Amino acid sequence: MTKRVAIFLSGGGSNMRALVEDMQGDHPARPCVVLSNQAEAGGIAWAREQGIATEVVDHRPFAGDRVQFETAISAALTPHQPDIICLAGFMRKLTAGFTDQWAGKMINIHPSLLPKYKGLHTHRRVLDEGDAQHGCTVHEVTAALDDGPILGQAVLSVAVDDSAQSLAERVLVLEHKLYPAVLRRFADGDRRPVMLTG
Ligand code: GAR
Repeated sequence: MTKRVAIFLSGGGSNMRALVEDMQGDHPARPCVVLSNQAEAGGIAWAREQGIATEVVDHRPFAGDRVQFETAISAALTPHQPDIICLAGFMRKLTAGFTDQWAGKMINIHPSLLPKYKGLHTHRRVLDEGDAQHGCTVHEVTAALDDGPILGQAVLSVAVDDSAQSLAERVLVLEHKLYPAVLRRFADGDRRPVMLTG
């Protein structure tokens, strides 16, 4: 049966767009809702234009009460009945209550070769360490930040003249290939890792 996919984002949503554009034809899933904590997120406007249902759950009124924020997210999701959640640049930490509820059904893309560089500023940190390789990872979401079983990675070679900005742009191109490739497999129940080189 076709899987229903909720996509969470906080910003421009280019990964969401790559996922949505791939969910056609024989793809085992379809988008059911795009949810953001930011009403003005570019990704929300684009999803609306495509006729995809959208939900905005602003985190600010919850003032650090993550559990209440997640209760509001769950309520917003209920009418859309998702089978899978894809985090695509969703920049809020989730508690174990939420990640446990979605264990094995929620995946995330992160702009580093995990387990290296969890958290923020990954491109800067790669340059500071002088790494020869960089890339992105799609993984199952668990209670620990940027952790959980790895479902795919895409790797590129760092060039001598790369800046944090150029790395961000080059990695993003890989993200748009990796995330759809992983979701296709994941929605079919196939958790074998996807490995790509850029
Ligand atoms: C992407 O680079 C994604 O990997 C990153 O945010 C960007 C969102 O871009 N996510 C994280 O850093 C999560 N830890 P997008 O809105 O254009 O998809």
